[in-house]
Amino acid sequence: MSDSFSEESKAELKKLMDSYPDRMSAVMNALHLAQREFGHISYEALEALSKEMGLPVQQLEDTASFYTMYFKEPVGENVIWVCQTLPCALRGSADIFDYLKEKLDIDAGETTSDKRFTLMKAECLASCGTAPMMQVNDDYFEDLTEQKIDKILGKFD
Ligand code: FES
Repeated sequence: MSDSFSEESKAELKKLMDSYPDRMSAVMNALHLAQREFGHISYEALEALSKEMGLPVQQLEDTASFYTMYFKEPVGENVIWVCQTLPCALRGSADIFDYLKEKLDIDAGETTSDKRFTLMKAECLASCGTAPMMQVNDDYFEDLTEQKIDKILGKFD
Protein backbone atom coordinates (compact mmCIF):
# COMPACT_ATOMS: atom_id res chain seq x y z
CA MET A 1 0.00 0.00 0.00
CA SER A 2 1.21 3.50 -0.83
CA ASP A 3 2.33 5.81 1.96
CA SER A 4 0.77 8.88 0.36
CA PHE A 5 -2.67 9.97 -0.79
CA SER A 6 -3.84 9.41 -4.36
CA GLU A 7 -4.17 12.55 -6.47
CA GLU A 8 -7.95 12.17 -6.28
CA SER A 9 -7.90 12.05 -2.47
CA LYS A 10 -5.48 14.98 -2.31
CA ALA A 11 -7.97 17.04 -4.32
CA GLU A 12 -10.81 15.88 -2.04
CA LEU A 13 -8.78 16.79 1.02
CA LYS A 14 -7.97 20.23 -0.33
CA LYS A 15 -11.64 20.85 -1.04
CA LEU A 16 -12.49 19.67 2.46
CA MET A 17 -9.91 21.97 4.08
CA ASP A 18 -11.14 24.90 1.99
CA SER A 19 -14.66 24.37 3.32
CA TYR A 20 -13.63 25.02 6.95
CA PRO A 21 -12.46 28.27 8.56
CA ASP A 22 -9.26 26.55 9.78
CA ARG A 23 -7.49 23.25 9.21
CA MET A 24 -8.07 21.84 12.68
CA SER A 25 -11.83 21.99 12.11
CA ALA A 26 -11.42 19.69 9.11
CA VAL A 27 -9.50 16.99 11.01
CA MET A 28 -12.37 14.59 11.74
CA ASN A 29 -13.54 14.45 8.15
CA ALA A 30 -9.92 14.31 6.98
CA LEU A 31 -9.34 11.28 9.23
CA HIS A 32 -12.35 9.56 7.65
CA LEU A 33 -10.84 10.25 4.25
CA ALA A 34 -7.45 8.91 5.42
CA GLN A 35 -9.13 5.78 6.79
CA ARG A 36 -10.87 5.19 3.48
CA GLU A 37 -7.60 5.65 1.62
CA PHE A 38 -5.29 3.65 3.91
CA GLY A 39 -7.77 1.13 5.37
CA HIS A 40 -6.99 2.22 8.94
CA ILE A 41 -5.28 5.06 10.76
CA SER A 42 -1.73 3.77 10.72
CA TYR A 43 1.28 5.92 11.53
CA GLU A 44 1.90 6.19 7.77
CA ALA A 45 -1.66 7.48 7.28
CA LEU A 46 -1.12 10.10 10.01
CA GLU A 47 2.18 11.16 8.45
CA ALA A 48 0.60 11.50 5.02
CA LEU A 49 -2.27 13.50 6.48
CA SER A 50 0.11 15.68 8.44
CA LYS A 51 2.02 16.45 5.24
CA GLU A 52 -1.14 17.37 3.35
CA MET A 53 -2.75 19.39 6.15
CA GLY A 54 0.33 21.05 7.60
CA LEU A 55 -0.63 19.88 11.10
CA PRO A 56 1.58 17.92 13.53
CA VAL A 57 1.17 14.13 13.53
CA GLN A 58 0.62 14.24 17.30
CA GLN A 59 -2.32 16.59 16.94
CA LEU A 60 -3.94 14.26 14.40
CA GLU A 61 -3.20 11.22 16.54
CA ASP A 62 -4.78 12.87 19.58
CA THR A 63 -8.07 13.15 17.70
CA ALA A 64 -7.85 9.71 16.07
CA SER A 65 -7.11 7.96 19.35
CA PHE A 66 -10.13 9.51 21.09
CA TYR A 67 -12.80 8.09 18.75
CA THR A 68 -13.60 4.42 18.25
CA MET A 69 -14.68 4.95 14.64
CA TYR A 70 -11.06 5.49 13.61
CA PHE A 71 -9.45 2.09 13.32
CA LYS A 72 -5.93 1.82 14.72
CA GLU A 73 -5.46 -1.68 13.30
CA PRO A 74 -6.46 -3.18 9.94
CA VAL A 75 -10.13 -4.25 9.77
CA GLY A 76 -12.17 -6.44 7.47
CA GLU A 77 -13.85 -5.31 4.28
CA ASN A 78 -17.09 -4.79 6.25
CA VAL A 79 -17.26 -3.56 9.83
CA ILE A 80 -20.28 -4.53 11.92
CA TRP A 81 -21.07 -2.41 14.97
CA VAL A 82 -23.67 -3.91 17.32
CA CYS A 83 -25.21 -1.39 19.70
CA GLN A 84 -24.99 -2.50 23.33
CA THR A 85 -26.51 0.48 25.13
CA LEU A 86 -29.59 0.08 27.38
CA PRO A 87 -32.50 0.47 24.90
CA CYS A 88 -30.86 -2.05 22.55
CA ALA A 89 -29.81 -4.25 25.48
CA LEU A 90 -33.42 -4.37 26.75
CA ARG A 91 -34.48 -5.58 23.31
CA GLY A 92 -31.92 -8.36 23.04
CA SER A 93 -28.73 -6.86 21.62
CA ALA A 94 -26.61 -9.32 23.62
CA ASP A 95 -28.35 -12.23 21.85
CA ILE A 96 -27.90 -10.45 18.51
CA PHE A 97 -24.21 -10.03 19.25
CA ASP A 98 -23.85 -13.67 20.31
CA TYR A 99 -25.61 -14.81 17.14
CA LEU A 100 -23.20 -12.80 14.99
CA LYS A 101 -20.25 -13.98 17.05
CA GLU A 102 -21.21 -17.60 16.50
CA LYS A 103 -22.13 -17.17 12.86
CA LEU A 104 -18.90 -15.36 11.96
CA ASP A 105 -16.80 -17.35 14.43
CA ILE A 106 -15.14 -14.20 15.80
CA ASP A 107 -15.38 -12.14 18.99
CA ALA A 108 -15.56 -8.37 19.47
CA GLY A 109 -12.63 -6.60 17.84
CA GLU A 110 -11.78 -9.60 15.65
CA THR A 111 -11.83 -10.10 11.89
CA THR A 112 -12.90 -13.22 10.01
CA SER A 113 -10.06 -15.22 8.45
CA ASP A 114 -11.26 -14.28 4.95
CA LYS A 115 -11.04 -10.59 6.00
CA ARG A 116 -14.68 -9.99 5.05
CA PHE A 117 -16.06 -8.95 8.45
CA THR A 118 -14.89 -7.27 11.63
CA LEU A 119 -17.24 -7.43 14.61
CA MET A 120 -17.42 -4.57 17.10
CA LYS A 121 -19.54 -3.53 20.06
CA ALA A 122 -20.86 0.03 19.92
CA GLU A 123 -22.41 2.48 22.30
CA CYS A 124 -25.72 4.11 21.33
CA LEU A 125 -25.89 4.78 17.60
CA ALA A 126 -28.91 7.06 17.99
CA SER A 127 -31.47 4.66 16.59
CA CYS A 128 -32.92 3.54 19.93
CA GLY A 129 -36.53 3.54 18.66
CA THR A 130 -35.68 0.66 16.32
CA ALA A 131 -33.65 -1.41 18.78
CA PRO A 132 -31.93 -3.77 18.57
CA MET A 133 -29.81 -2.41 15.78
CA MET A 134 -26.40 -2.57 14.18
CA GLN A 135 -24.40 -0.56 11.71
CA VAL A 136 -22.57 -2.26 8.85
CA ASN A 137 -20.13 0.16 7.23
CA ASP A 138 -22.29 3.26 6.65
CA ASP A 139 -25.71 1.59 6.80
CA TYR A 140 -28.07 0.98 9.72
CA PHE A 141 -30.02 -2.28 10.14
CA GLU A 142 -32.80 -2.10 12.67
CA ASP A 143 -35.37 -4.19 14.58
CA LEU A 144 -32.94 -7.06 14.22
CA THR A 145 -33.79 -10.73 14.49
CA GLU A 146 -31.63 -13.73 13.68
CA GLN A 147 -33.52 -14.18 10.41
CA LYS A 148 -32.85 -10.56 9.46
CA ILE A 149 -29.17 -10.97 10.21
CA ASP A 150 -28.97 -14.00 7.91
CA LYS A 151 -30.52 -11.93 5.14
CA ILE A 152 -28.28 -8.92 5.79
CA LEU A 153 -25.08 -10.94 5.80
CA GLY A 154 -26.23 -12.64 2.60
CA LYS A 155 -26.13 -9.25 0.88
CA PHE A 156 -22.38 -9.12 1.44
CA ASP A 157 -21.68 -12.43 -0.35
S1 FES B 1 -29.40 2.26 22.46
FE1 FES B 1 -29.01 1.27 20.61
S2 FES B 1 -29.25 2.84 19.16
FE2 FES B 1 -29.53 3.85 21.05
